[in-house]
Amino acid sequence: MKQTYIWIAFTLLLVLNIVLMLRLSHVSTRLDGMKTTPREQPSTPVAHHEAEEIEVAISMNHIQRHANKLYFAGQNENWPLAGFYVHEIEETMEEIADGHVEDDGINISQLMEALGIPALEGLEKSIAAKNKAEFNTAYNLLVTTCNNCHQSTNHPYIVIQNPKTPALDNQVY
Ligand code: HEC
Repeated sequence: MKQTYIWIAFTLLLVLNIVLMLRLSHVSTRLDGMKTTPREQPSTPVAHHEAEEIEVAISMNHIQRHANKLYFAGQNENWPLAGFYVHEIEETMEEIADGHVEDDGINISQLMEALGIPALEGLEKSIAAKNKAEFNTAYNLLVTTCNNCHQSTNHPYIVIQNPKTPALDNQVY
């Protein structure tokens, strides 16, 4: 008699266990479904877009500083230093070109590949030739390119010019 009760209790527990497991899997399927509901989707691309924008602004900060230093290296005909800064600007531009950056439907990466990086060629040549006049012409072209791209990407108020004083005065050019 006692044994029968134990068996009934055991069977009941088993059934309860199965019911609970089935309910749990149902709940987790519903949770999975909620993760991909259309209502949840817009948040992902927006966060991605913001992250890209922050990256471009930081890269531009580096480019601006290196362009400033490049100018004074060139004016002082310090060619190894000028070459170093052109290389730094190129690296930052390549990061943007390879970064699949899009802003307001404008492909920034493509513009960087087509406009930005080619504007460094003349500078590289003038530095290799140690020719200050050529350097100045190429530097003016770079500044024009900065501004052309800001115009094309709806940032016409970001205007770059040839620097008058070094941004940082604790370095020898
Ligand atoms: C391929 C296009 C492109 C080129 C080329 C380009 N920029 Fe930009 N720049 C942008 C975009 C886009 C922004 C706005 C970034 C944002 O919305 O966060 C920007 C923003 C900036 C800013 C504002 C951010 C800050 O830190 O104040 C500066 C400064 C800047 N660029 C400097 C330069 C300089 C200097 C050059 C040239 C040596 C240059 N840019 C070339 C696209 C470009």
